[in-house]
Amino acid sequence: MDIDINDKEFGLFQRLIYNESGINLTSAKKELLKSRLTKRLRERSLISFKEYYQYITEKDTTGEELVSLLDCISTNLTEFFRESVHFDFLSEKVLPDLFENKRKIREKKIRIWCAGCSTGEEPYSISMMLSECPVHLSEWDIKILATDLSTRVLKKATQGIYAKDRLKGIPLQMLNTYFKKGVHNLKDCYQIKDSLKNMIVFRRLNLTDEIFPFKGQFDFIFCRNVMIYFDKQTQTKLVSKFYKHLALDGYLFIGHSESLAGTETRFRYVRPTIYQK
Ligand SMILES: C[S@@+](CC[C@H](N)C(=O)[O-])C[C@H]1O[C@@H](n2cnc3c(N)ncnc32)[C@H](O)[C@@H]1O
Repeated sequence: MDIDINDKEFGLFQRLIYNESGINLTSAKKELLKSRLTKRLRERSLISFKEYYQYITEKDTTGEELVSLLDCISTNLTEFFRESVHFDFLSEKVLPDLFENKRKIREKKIRIWCAGCSTGEEPYSISMMLSECPVHLSEWDIKILATDLSTRVLKKATQGIYAKDRLKGIPLQMLNTYFKKGVHNLKDCYQIKDSLKNMIVFRRLNLTDEIFPFKGQFDFIFCRNVMIYFDKQTQTKLVSKFYKHLALDGYLFIGHSESLAGTETRFRYVRPTIYQK
C-alpha cells in the first residue's frame, strides 16, 4: 500500500530538515522525500508520515533516526577531479606557493579542509595533487580534514573502494600509483593506497553547527556543491565561518554553480568560484 504525504506533513519535514542541516527542500521535492522515506516507515511499521515525524522527534532518544533521515535526503553526487580547473589552479598556483611560503617561515604544517566531502573522491583527489608535488612529503606534516553530514557517505569514503567506472577522471599514471586493484569479490574495484588514506581524517560535521571544533586554521578549504542546498542566510553565516577558520591568504573553493556574489563577505575574488582571505 502506498503511503501518502500531505502538505502539512511535508511542512513538518521541511522545517525539521532545515533546522537540522540547513538544507532548503522546496515543495517540488515532496515526491522525492516521499519515495526516499517510504521504506523507512515500512521498516518501522509506521502508517503515516506524521507518525514517522513523531518517532524521530519524540520517541527515538538515540537521535539515530534523525541521522538516517538526513542520510536519505542528502544528494551526494561527486567524482574524482570534479571541476578540473580547481585542480589545475591547485597544482599551478596554490600548492607551489604554499610549500614555498611555509619553507620561508620554517613551518612544515599544512592543514586542508574538505567540507561536504561526500564519498571521498574530492579529498582523495586533493591528496593525489599533494603527492604529485616535487617535495618530500615525509618531511611535511599534512592533514586533510574531510567532513560530511551523512554517516553513509563517510563510511564509503573511509573504505576508499571504488568501482572501475567511478575512476574515469583519473589519469592512468595516477591510477597505477595511488590505487591497488581489488581481488576476489572486489575484482571490479580499486582501493586507495594507505599513503593517501593516511593524509585524510574523515569526520561527521554539520556545517550549520554554531561552532566548529577546530583550534588551528586551514591553508585552504574546499566546500563545493554544498551551499547550493542552503538559503542565502545560511550561506552567509557559513562563509563568514570559513573566513574565520582560514589562514591569511588561504583560499576558499566553491562549486561551479555557486557564487559569493550577494553574500556579505570579506573574501577577495580571485577567479570564478575561487576566493582568498
Ligand atoms: C553534492 S555533494 C558534493 C560533494 C563534493 N564536495 C563535490 O563537489 O563533488 C554535497 C554533500 O554535502 C553534504 N551536506 C549537505 N548538507 C550538509 C551539512 N549541513 N553539513 C555537512 N555536509 C552537508 C551532503 O551530505 C553531500 O555529501
